[in-house]
Amino acid sequence: MFSAADALGRALKSTGVCRAMPNFMKVGEVPRKRFSQFRREDGSLYSTEVMGLEGFSSDFSLLHHRHPPSSLLACEAVSSERIEFIDNHPLSPHLWHTARVEPAGDTVSARFVLCGNDDVVAGFVSAVAPSPLYRNAAADELFYVHEGAARLETIFGALDVGPGDYVLLPKGVTHRWLPATTLRALVFETTGHVKPPSRYLSAHGQFLQTAPYSELDLRAPAGPLQVEERGVEVLVRTRSGLTRYTFERHPFDVVGWFGCNYPFAFNIADFSPITGSFHRPPPVHQVFEAPQMVFCNFVPRMLDYDSRAMPIPSFHSNVDSDEFIFYAEGNFFSRRGSGIERGSVTLHPAGHVHGPHPGSVDKAAERVGQRTEEIAVMLDTFRPLRLARRAEAIEQSGYVHSWTARTS
Ligand SMILES: [Fe+2]
Repeated sequence: MFSAADALGRALKSTGVCRAMPNFMKVGEVPRKRFSQFRREDGSLYSTEVMGLEGFSSDFSLLHHRHPPSSLLACEAVSSERIEFIDNHPLSPHLWHTARVEPAGDTVSARFVLCGNDDVVAGFVSAVAPSPLYRNAAADELFYVHEGAARLETIFGALDVGPGDYVLLPKGVTHRWLPATTLRALVFETTGHVKPPSRYLSAHGQFLQTAPYSELDLRAPAGPLQVEERGVEVLVRTRSGLTRYTFERHPFDVVGWFGCNYPFAFNIADFSPITGSFHRPPPVHQVFEAPQMVFCNFVPRMLDYDSRAMPIPSFHSNVDSDEFIFYAEGNFFSRRGSGIERGSVTLHPAGHVHGPHPGSVDKAAERVGQRTEEIAVMLDTFRPLRLARRAEAIEQSGYVHSWTARTS
């Protein structure tokens, strides 16, 4: 749906701007001056940790620990499944059903990868158990919670999340997921940083009045957890696999932090859709961007309302992008008879012309001025996505023929 060259240009240009979050936050106990001597009541020093993007040249946060965060007792390799990717050849669209991903394990061990490339790995998780303490040292992690609820504990503090929440965990943030119920979620691991689209922000970083969401819609961790514990294991993901660190002290011993680089949640219901008298293309639905990709969401909204409007997407050939869509809620009018259901994912690759399914175009004109209650999350990548071989287990065969008109 999202192959506009202007979007590609914007995303590429944005790679030079590494703005983590527009909001400056100050949480818990912090010193009057940054990089100053910050002491407890007994006169001993706190340990300051800088978490900065692009080395020391972009957005950052300063966290103040009770103990040095670098005191490592042990370091060992952990065997983990290596994802086997295959080219999307012969070039085909794909349809996967995440409802077939069985609940098992935790958000780290039970990821069911669907596809990926050097920029992003997209998967689904149906987690039932608390995750270990974990940090991804190779990627930002963006979750979209489809079902369930969880408490997310991080080095910055805790967030309670539920259906419709995006949760962004910046690269390097130690955390753990504690599902309250089975947590079913999309998981995107991005090599570059995920952030609000630059075009939604002023030169000084404030959300513009024309943006579909604002600072008021973003939820940051409530406060530092201040955990005191010794001999704590943390799993670290790198490009080589998983490493288990054992730290002398718990990494959640932070007493306060400030800055612009921190995890946050944003609920899709807080995205205010931009509608029009005629078709508005997918860029109006954009929610985040990262190098070589954009994220969009389609939310309940008024359909095109001019009496001559065609309130359904045109056929499109994705000249510059592979299109990954997760169908979260609703009846997906334009996909009638395709096999797409709640929780399905489609991959429509560059070079494959697609659009509304047979039967839906003729009915579209009747929908002028009506509402749609559909909710979908889309990732468009500007480099081809490869297929995880394991994803074949939840794939619906024959999707490639689903645009062919049926006579009976
Ligand atoms: Fe599309």
